[in-house]
Amino acid sequence: MKLRRCAILLIEPREKLSFDLDSLLNGGDGLDARIELLALAPHLDAEMLVSAAEVAMLNSLTAAPWHDFEALSARHGSELLRSLLAKGLLIGDDDAHAAVRERDERLRAANWHTHSAVSHYFGRWRGITSGEDAINAGLCTMSELFERLGPPPPHVLDRVPAAERIALPASEATPLDEILARRATCRNYDPAALVDKSTFSHLMRRIFGAQAAYEIHADNVVIKRTSPSGGGLHPTEAYLLIQRVEGIAPGLYHYHPIDHALEPLPAPAAGDLKALARIMVAAQKYYIDVPVMIVLVSRFPRTFWKYRNHTKAYRATILDAGHLSQTLYISATEFGLGAFITAAINEADIEQAFGLDPLRESPLAVCGFGVRGAECETFEFDPNRKVWPDGVPAPA
Ligand SMILES: Cc1cc2nc3c(=O)[nH]c(=O)nc-3n(C[C@H](O)[C@H](O)[C@H](O)COP(=O)(O)O)c2cc1C
Repeated sequence: MKLRRCAILLIEPREKLSFDLDSLLNGGDGLDARIELLALAPHLDAEMLVSAAEVAMLNSLTAAPWHDFEALSARHGSELLRSLLAKGLLIGDDDAHAAVRERDERLRAANWHTHSAVSHYFGRWRGITSGEDAINAGLCTMSELFERLGPPPPHVLDRVPAAERIALPASEATPLDEILARRATCRNYDPAALVDKSTFSHLMRRIFGAQAAYEIHADNVVIKRTSPSGGGLHPTEAYLLIQRVEGIAPGLYHYHPIDHALEPLPAPAAGDLKALARIMVAAQKYYIDVPVMIVLVSRFPRTFWKYRNHTKAYRATILDAGHLSQTLYISATEFGLGAFITAAINEADIEQAFGLDPLRESPLAVCGFGVRGAECETFEFDPNRKVWPDGVPAPA
């Protein structure tokens, strides 16, 4: 058998603190601090505890050229090699290691920068219910946060004394200013109202549709969107969970930006769209009923085709999603709809529900839009009363 190290690997010496009675009784601080070595390898689905000897072995093996297992065993013994193969940190070229090798190869082919890959893959959630947990832990409202964490850094930055500032002239508001003034993250959707089909279609074309497809070479086409994109590559796909759009069956879809069409996808395994909506947004209850939820999914290999192993490439994909989200907010506002975005999402559950291969494409955020409800039950930030003329309940 031949073997090599997995493509992407970081070792973290993580400090583990626990209560230590002996230390307390002997005049210490009552804490036992231990270092655990953790291997962070994104082709595996979990962190791996490793020993210092295993780390030393990993340090001595390359990730590109293959090594001969027998020759290495003769030199170092086979025990460490076998344990690292079992953990998936060493990759074997035989059938027994085909599954992990295939995952490692998919990750290699994507051209990730190491730090970015570790940040993305170990930042994904599965089954997290932070929306409910924050409420239960009393760490939700600004007052609770203030009480527990003290004051945050100041709301604006003063670099010079006020007298040294150069005042800028006032100007007339334009129609776009008016729209932007009405933009407020919506957390109160009408649970019955449908989004009409023509508005839905208009928004999808404007936000995610290709305004043009420009062929540079036969196999190299770039699309134009209303939002900018790093390298012009537009890696962001729109995957939808539709609950209430006139004339469109509730379900899961992928939006095709050139055909301006929805591609129906298999229904969620449990057949329950609301349950999926809930877990997608980590149990933030005010978003579960949104008529149109859109997962912003990045096809990383498209951006990393140009920006190979590049320190800025992952950042560019996140910024792309941010631009699309703001276009969505502005557009929904223009049509009198409410919009939202959340980064508190269960990426792994979303990938499973939409049939995404996380080593090729993965969610960065969930946003959406719909008809606002008549009452503001959950706080919205509308200090100028542009959305709620009678005001909203004061933030706690
Ligand atoms: C990247 C990002 C992530 C956000 N995540 C959440 C979220 O998890 N839950 C939520 O209710 N709002 C979320 N928001 C919305 C913000 O809370 C909101 O923008 C902020 O309170 C200011 O209100 P405004 O958008 O009405 O001006 C997010 C906004 C951004 C840009």
